[in-house]
Amino acid sequence: MNTKGLSLNTIPPVSIPLRFFLTAPLFGVLAAMMVLYFGQDIWGSRWQARSLALTHLLTIGFMLMVMIGALYQFIPVMIGQLIPGGRKRVAIVHLFLVFGSLSLMSAFLIQETILFQLALISLAVSVFLFALSLLPLLITQLNDHLIVYLIRILFCVLIVTIGLGLFMLLAYAYPNLIINYREYTDIHASWGLIGWVVILIMAVSSQVIPMFFVTPDFSVKYLKILSLLIVLTLAMMSLMALTKIDIQAILNLLLSIELSFFTIYTLQLINQRKRKIPDITVSFWRVSLFSLMISIVYWWLLVLGTNSELIPLKWSSQSEFTLGLLLIYGLAISAIIGMLQKIVPFLLYLNLQNLSFKHPDSMSAEPKLVLNMKQIITNQQSKVQFVLHISSYLLLLISIYWVKFTWLAGLVVLINFSWLFITLLRGFILFSKKRKAILMHPEMKMEFTFNK
Ligand code: HEM
Repeated sequence: MNTKGLSLNTIPPVSIPLRFFLTAPLFGVLAAMMVLYFGQDIWGSRWQARSLALTHLLTIGFMLMVMIGALYQFIPVMIGQLIPGGRKRVAIVHLFLVFGSLSLMSAFLIQETILFQLALISLAVSVFLFALSLLPLLITQLNDHLIVYLIRILFCVLIVTIGLGLFMLLAYAYPNLIINYREYTDIHASWGLIGWVVILIMAVSSQVIPMFFVTPDFSVKYLKILSLLIVLTLAMMSLMALTKIDIQAILNLLLSIELSFFTIYTLQLINQRKRKIPDITVSFWRVSLFSLMISIVYWWLLVLGTNSELIPLKWSSQSEFTLGLLLIYGLAISAIIGMLQKIVPFLLYLNLQNLSFKHPDSMSAEPKLVLNMKQIITNQQSKVQFVLHISSYLLLLISIYWVKFTWLAGLVVLINFSWLFITLLRGFILFSKKRKAILMHPEMKMEFTFNK
């Protein structure tokens, strides 16, 4: 593992990021239950409330949840400073995010105004408090660290995505306010799925891939320019969509080139890794990047096919679901599950190691009290996770066109997220046992002598 430039002593208490990581798979389980409950009706139309509920169980309940946890873990190790706000604020951010996601899902399903209002308030409080914690670091940390730069961009993209989301939610929560929110749905979706997801993956890849797979570092210049270009292209696309000026084709082409460049560049770096030993998390990354590539090709086929009437109109709904799945389940969730296989063991291992330095007698205990990463999540567990993930992904895609597979797809998605939850929980239980054992050893007292 390549840990140069990391502040390994500045790690947050395990309970801070882990609460987000352990809650996220439960939202995946809920999403699977929805697929099982609604069966083939889940693939009706993207505008149906159940579809919106499913989208946000995955995007807010799973993806945003993990992202916040990962930032609480990453930022201190990268820049040597904990995210301000303390444990109390973390607890509020987490609680409101859980409550907001659940209310939003129920609101879409039951169509109760009060639930939309609750979702609006809870999600706004959670995101606002988290942004408030992050902002001082992003303003004052003027060093040129790539991750700080990417997180700044991510922050702006998230403000647009979530700002638009909350604005549309306002229309649901207060129907008397006449807001023509449908104008913004596609803009919100593309900022979320292209801007946020891709730049998030860029930020995570730039740290995790060189560190865990020992590849050459990402070029800081490439990633800085690329992320900025993606944001500018999205901004222009949104402006064009609202003003109805038609240079969309050029912008689409530009965005496709930017995304393809990132995909090919990252795949090439992964291939140059020095540690050639088989590592299943590399496969998660490949699935994620190939999904992005396939979505670009698929999207162009759709545009060209629809324009030349090669694709029948009755397929348009299926195409939209396919694109959504490629981006949400394929691109984002594959990378996130792969990332969790690495960063959770790393967090638990570092915590045990730092604790054992304070209790030096514990280092000679047998069996060893500081677990290595592979004991926390084993290779076998990660392999099972990969098989479950890839089969659920393929089944979901198949079920859009052959709806009789929907139930099976839902079942495998359920097993996929349950396995993730069980794996992370088992790692945490192992960690807690070892932590307790280390604490039984006497703590080293620091003695200072002062010269008079
Ligand atoms: C606080 C956070 C968010 C809120 C309040 C929110 C709210 C909403 C609302 C109200 C809609 C429905 C618009 C309509 O009926 O036309 C919507 C659609 C959508 N949102 Fe969000 N959203 C949030 C975060 C996100 C994120 C982070 C993503 C993606 C990463 C996302 C992806 C989408 C997509 C893809 C759609 C369109 C769904 C479809 O076409 O079926 N949202 N959002």
